[in-house]
Amino acid sequence: MIRRYDYGNPYPSFAAVLDLPALKEAPPFLETETEGGEISFTLSLHNVDALYGLGEAVGPIDRRGRRYQSWNSDEFNHAEDRQSLYGSHNFLIVFRASEPFALFLDDPGRVRWDLGFEDRGRMRITSENGDFSLYVITPEEGTPRKGICADLCRQFRVLTGRSYIPPRWALGYIQSRWGYAGEEDLTAVARAHRERHIPLDGICLDIDYMDGFRDFTLNEKALPDLKGVAGRLLSDGVRVIPIIDAGVKKETGYSVYDEGHEEGYFCKKADGSDFEAAVWPGLSCFPDFFREDASRWFGDKYRVLMDMGVEGFWNDMNEPALFYSPEGLDKAFAEAEELRSGMMSHDSSFILTAAVDGIKNSMDDYRRFYHRIGERTVRHDKVHNLYGALMTHAAAEGMRRAEPDRRHLLFSRSSFAGSHRDGGIWMGDNFSWWSHLALHLRMLPSLNMMGFIYCGADVGGFGADVDEELLIRWIQLGAFTPLFRNHSALGTRLQEVYRFPKWKTMRDAIKVRYSLIPWLYSEMMHAILSDGLLFRPLGFDYPDDPLARAVEDQVMLGRQCMIAPVLAPHVPGRNVYLPEDMLLVRFRTPEDYDTEEIEAGWHYVRLDENEFPLFIRRGTFVILAKSGERTSDLSVEGAATLGWDAEDYVLPLYCDDGITFGAPDGHIVPIRMERDTEQN
Ligand code: NOJ
Repeated sequence: MIRRYDYGNPYPSFAAVLDLPALKEAPPFLETETEGGEISFTLSLHNVDALYGLGEAVGPIDRRGRRYQSWNSDEFNHAEDRQSLYGSHNFLIVFRASEPFALFLDDPGRVRWDLGFEDRGRMRITSENGDFSLYVITPEEGTPRKGICADLCRQFRVLTGRSYIPPRWALGYIQSRWGYAGEEDLTAVARAHRERHIPLDGICLDIDYMDGFRDFTLNEKALPDLKGVAGRLLSDGVRVIPIIDAGVKKETGYSVYDEGHEEGYFCKKADGSDFEAAVWPGLSCFPDFFREDASRWFGDKYRVLMDMGVEGFWNDMNEPALFYSPEGLDKAFAEAEELRSGMMSHDSSFILTAAVDGIKNSMDDYRRFYHRIGERTVRHDKVHNLYGALMTHAAAEGMRRAEPDRRHLLFSRSSFAGSHRDGGIWMGDNFSWWSHLALHLRMLPSLNMMGFIYCGADVGGFGADVDEELLIRWIQLGAFTPLFRNHSALGTRLQEVYRFPKWKTMRDAIKVRYSLIPWLYSEMMHAILSDGLLFRPLGFDYPDDPLARAVEDQVMLGRQCMIAPVLAPHVPGRNVYLPEDMLLVRFRTPEDYDTEEIEAGWHYVRLDENEFPLFIRRGTFVILAKSGERTSDLSVEGAATLGWDAEDYVLPLYCDDGITFGAPDGHIVPIRMERDTEQN
């Protein structure tokens, strides 16, 4: 059951697709306080309560003991104590022995979450705006404990809508790097993969493909013929996936700017002039995606590149990231001048550093501009967390208008609850660190709780130089995530797998991924179409097993499996906790693997560097198709079953054409151990 309570004057909801009536009285079990415009809810926690949710955030899967802030941030340092990343995902499950429930705060402003940080026995949620809808979700009657968390997520999805459906090719391996600019890079990267038979379905273009970082333009020198090169690559199964940034370069004569400026589509300052701040192209203006006309205008621009054969995009810098505004710069220089005129002490050096550092993504700037929301003019900081979601919505709608029957790839850096209807997300600027490999794993179930089924992190790590062993282990995790993209930052060590002596080990892991795609795609579609989760914490499936609930480095995958990747260097394997008997599949290649039945309990599983495990629940199996080098090579025909000898288990394999919206041709093929592939 979902109950809605309104506080203050909520902004029109982006997240909710159900229009529930708001109840008058406050939820009785939450202590509510109002102070200076802020509204807080306090709840006592029991010893064994677990807190799941908040989507994109650092820290453990069970968020108890931590504090967070919903404030979409261009945060490149995903340090352990960071309270905010790129998305605001205000959904939290309070999982307890009796009366478990979930909360969703539909509030586009800053929200603070103290989840037992000050006092482990208490949680406190504070809305700084004080204008929001609070939804309290309780399990459907009769739901077994085992299904409670999934049921709370399902209801949240009923409230916020069905998840985005990517095309099947989006499950292929994608190679990306900040620095790829045009034809030469695209051709060389595609060739290097094909020559070595490393599967590949997409290459991302980063900002350098544009003319001076201007959205919807092309760097004529590097990419004189996008249509030609996109067509050639596509004939070999490789799609080109360009980036689009939120900021539009301020420059008279650049048509996107001219149109936006003349039509008044950009965010405005209090005096009615366009708000300007610098991002990659220099001083830029920011479309006011809250306005329907501006959103439509920007969304239709994607067509410029679609007409050249592009079928997918990634949206970046849409928190929005702001390097500085002219006003912010003036203030920092003034502070610096003032310091210069005095005696420089070590204190003043810190003040100087802070003044310079503070020009980036500053609150002063976020308070400097406004949006038109219907008849209202709203200061940006009040609705900050919606900006990226609305950019992605504009893009998704634009692509739908251009090609209504086709699925497109779209993933964004910034997001809000409800963005899961429009696209996937990637986890932003991680580092080539073992701790971020583990963070990648932990964020998967949390993002799935929000409905972001299509998600993944930069495989290999974005910042810092990856070493070979880390990349191998990361590829072995990426092999299971719907978005499987190797991406790295300009200036870091080149990170394409073929640059490394042990590239064959990585190729083989990618090939295993391709063999699993028919099954993985089916499980992903099942999660999407049933409002379920592809990745779940072990605590969701084994709520009464305290050891399972404590596990933070293994996750359930689909209806049949669990994954437990190696997350540390120089180890010959890892400890794995099995909440029930499972079949260990130790993969080396799609053809070379061994299997072992393992009983419930703790085990040390040996895994050489070229081996990675998949655990299959007793009595079930998955299918392993003949691998290929592009998703279009893959077929369910002749696929082998892999798992338990399970006479009475039928694997409901979802199949469709992978590119249209499928309802008429999406169907379940019941797969039995003896491989009956007859259609339902
Ligand atoms: C920031 C993004 O997070 C990163 O992935 C991208 O490479 C850079 N911007 C440059 O566009």
